[in-house]
Amino acid sequence: MSTPIQGFSKLSKEEKIDWVSQTFTQGDPETKNLLTQYWHEDKALQKLHDEFIENTLSNFYVPLGIAPNFLINNKLYAIPMAIEESSVVAAASKAAKFWGTRGGFKTEVLGTEKIGQVHFFFQGDPKKLKAFFTHIKPILLADCAPLTANMEKRGGGISDLMLRDKTSDLAHYFQIHAVFQTADAMGANFINSCLEQFATSLKREAQQYHGFSAEEQSIEVVMSILSNYVPNCTVRATVSCPVADLEGIDGASGVIFAQKMVQAVAIAKAEPHRAVTHNKGIMNGVDAVVLATGNDFRAIEAGVHAYAAKDGSYSSLTHASIENGVFCFWIELPLALGTVGGLTNLHPLVKWSMAVLQKPSAKQLMEIVAVAGLAQNFAALHSLVTSGIQKGHMKMHLLNILNQLGATETEKVELVAYYKDQTATHSHVVSSFKTLRKNGSL
Ligand code: MEV
Repeated sequence: MSTPIQGFSKLSKEEKIDWVSQTFTQGDPETKNLLTQYWHEDKALQKLHDEFIENTLSNFYVPLGIAPNFLINNKLYAIPMAIEESSVVAAASKAAKFWGTRGGFKTEVLGTEKIGQVHFFFQGDPKKLKAFFTHIKPILLADCAPLTANMEKRGGGISDLMLRDKTSDLAHYFQIHAVFQTADAMGANFINSCLEQFATSLKREAQQYHGFSAEEQSIEVVMSILSNYVPNCTVRATVSCPVADLEGIDGASGVIFAQKMVQAVAIAKAEPHRAVTHNKGIMNGVDAVVLATGNDFRAIEAGVHAYAAKDGSYSSLTHASIENGVFCFWIELPLALGTVGGLTNLHPLVKWSMAVLQKPSAKQLMEIVAVAGLAQNFAALHSLVTSGIQKGHMKMHLLNILNQLGATETEKVELVAYYKDQTATHSHVVSSFKTLRKNGSL
């Protein structure tokens, strides 16, 4: 059992690797070889990556791919996606091609409000707190003016500030609930700075407020932090076409295919077990673009899943209908994204992704990301209600299995050709590989 190490963050990168190697891999030189093998030869670039976090040892590669042919609001995009799952980029590209000949994707940003809260306890008369808040609201805003000046120049700022009485949920618990517009920034730092200023002003003003008793004057601020639940920072992406244009998919009539798609969505709306997997497929697309554009996918995940449960039961983020012979398939989801600040101007591949997306505004990025989620869900349901998911999935996963087995390039070519027209299962691939190795043929 290892003992705790003091001052680890102060060690050099090499010293940290030595410590990890000695402590956890018996000094195996492979630890050092492996970790240093992934260092970038350009030292300045490597330093940039080292400094993103604390205790960096190496780089962790995830493929960056591109899904072309996305027609969004009549403009063509190629969407960068950073993801390790084999079938995701292929599925996105397939859906883009499918809808490219059926009118493409249409999008609309429904709102861009971000939220932050100062959480505090007040032991006193809520009516007095209400009067106090009315009195200090202009003071809170004035104290924040130096922080908001720049954001206001960019069209953002604080758009609302309210006192919320949460005592029916938790004794003595109140909030300052603030609504922000953050233009093209995700805005976390801006919001958190404003909230901490509100907290300071709140405590200071309470101590000087004559309407409070001594106990009421000592408001207890617990924390000040933005919320990743942003139900008013949402975007809608839609595809639609006459049912007749869906004719012949997997040999079925357009009506049958459309009905199966509607049923698949209805199941995800009714049944949380299915909804979670359904939405996971959506997040395959969403997260891949969020990551490639240097945004915080954990924040997006948390906000999206809370939104999926907003009506009291976890449900589908996509919707589908057939009306007057038209199949319509759409998604609505909250996305607090930024195209300036954070990693966006720092990580070379993020900068590149933004350039490929033609330097989108935050609103445009919301639209693109929603489209990626919708496309992913369409592709998944398309497979699920026709051939099943494994045929396409295993086709893409085949190379991973062959690489694990140590197949040569020639063996890979032969086995990929062999599985072109049949579903690969893990055990079947292993047995075909062994036969090929042994006999030189299948
Ligand atoms: C796999 O990563 C995602 C799917 O399971 C999504 C779905 O079932 O809708 C295929």
